[in-house]
Formats: sequence, C-alpha cells, structure tokens
Amino acid sequence: MKQNIYDDPKFFKEYSALRESGITYNDFVEQPAIKSAISNLDGKSVLDLGCGTGEFAKYCIENGASKVLGVDISANMIEKAKKENAHNNIDYICISIEDLELENQKFDLVISSLAVHYVEDYANLIKKVRNLLTKNGEFIFSTEHPIVTAKKEMNGWVKDVDGNKLHWSLDNYQEEGKREQHWYIDGVIKYHRTISTLVNTLIENGLVLEKIIEPQSIPVGLQKMPKLVNEKRRPSFIVIKSRNSF
Ligand SMILES: C[S@@+](CC[C@H](N)C(=O)[O-])C[C@H]1O[C@@H](n2cnc3c(N)ncnc32)[C@H](O)[C@@H]1O
Repeated sequence: MKQNIYDDPKFFKEYSALRESGITYNDFVEQPAIKSAISNLDGKSVLDLGCGTGEFAKYCIENGASKVLGVDISANMIEKAKKENAHNNIDYICISIEDLELENQKFDLVISSLAVHYVEDYANLIKKVRNLLTKNGEFIFSTEHPIVTAKKEMNGWVKDVDGNKLHWSLDNYQEEGKREQHWYIDGVIKYHRTISTLVNTLIENGLVLEKIIEPQSIPVGLQKMPKLVNEKRRPSFIVIKSRNSF
C-alpha cells in the first residue's frame, strides 16, 4: 500500500515547521551521515528518490553534479521543491517510487534520504534501483534503523516514574512488515525490515556493499538539541552505501 502522508494538511504543516526550524535529527544526524557517504559528485547524474522539498537535489548541484532528477509522491513537497530549490539542471516529478518508470535512463548516483521505510516492497525497489544505475554507479540510502522500527508500537524507550530514559527496548525484530505510528497524526505507516534483509537484498541484486553508518549527532547538534545524546545509546538511522558491480 502506498501512503501519501505528506499531503495530509496537518502533517504537512507540522513537518514543514519542524524542517524549517533547522533543529532536527535530519540536520544534525542523518544528513551529515548520508552526505559523508558520497564519494564525489563531480559531473554525476543523480536520482533522488523521495526528494521532499529538494534541498538535497540543490546540494548535489552546488557540489558538482551535472543533473538531478527528484522524485516524490507528495504534490505539496514537489510544489515546495519547485519554488524553493529550482535549478536549470534539476527536474522534479511527482510520482511514487513504486510507479516510477524511467526506461533507458541510468544514473551515476541514486540517493534516498529517509524514504525507503515508506516503501512496502523493498526487493522490488532494489531491483528497480539496480536497473537505473550505471556500471559502478552508487546507491546510498538512509532509513529508520531496524531497532527503532522493530517494536509494533514504535515506542522503544523504557522510562522510570520521573520520565528518565532507562534503556531502549527491542521486540518483534524478526517480524518484518507494516508498523503504524502516531507522528503528528494517527496512522503513519512505515515498514520494518531486519538488517540482514536490508543488506542481503542489495547483494542478491548484484550490489556490492561499501559502507554502513549508524550515525551519531555532529557536535553542534549536541549543543542545539541536547536530547541527541541519546543517539549514543541507540541509533535512530542507518545509512547504507552500495555499488553496482555490473
Ligand atoms: C522524511 S521525508 C525526506 C525528504 C527528503 N529526502 C529529505 O531528506 O529532506 C520523506 C519523503 O519521502 C516521500 N515519500 C514517502 N513515500 C514515498 C513513495 N512511496 N514514493 C515517493 N516518495 C515517497 C515523502 O513524500 C517525503 O517527501
């Protein structure tokens, strides 16, 4: 099932306000990590799956990429991307990753920042990505860490009576599939997969694993968002980099 949560008015308003604050897990944990995994953008063609409002597409162009195609299921996000992060060498299209067909097109880098956990059929996604990569092309994606998506309620912290975090709890790890979460609104759907599924599906499709990052906050994040110290206790995200061997 494809869910377009970012076009829900309440969700979009709250999510946009969060991202515009500049004080987020994205700014201090996930984005620095995914950017650090990119070898070199010079002259590269880039496909950004789940591109959101296009900051990453713009970043790629500003750092030497020759062209970027940004794809997102949300009309709200694409509209904002076209307004705020337009560039002659960036195209944005509003379509789901699942429905995307790009016959005869190949990219040097396929990137996806925090969108893969919204896609139900991971095997099919990886097959699609592999067919869109040039020889030696890179696929780099971040997703919510399996230890965060594992529990059915997605509420891992166990707290004492005063609300102090005692430890992170893990359950249902081997039970892959749909999870439902309250995030601004009820019923936000994500998909849990084990680390072995995330990695082995890449390998089964001829992608060579190059790097895995379980990021912590960059130093400025710890000052601006003290709760990011908890990333030392358990990671919220995982970044996986692989390369097309064909
Ligand atoms: C957490 S946001 C990240 C946006 C952007 N990559 C960034 O890092 O700023 C996830 C994005 O994935 C998009 N998305 C979710 N499911 C999708 C799907 N099935 N196909 C395409 N985009 C999807 C959402 O609309 C949203 O823009």
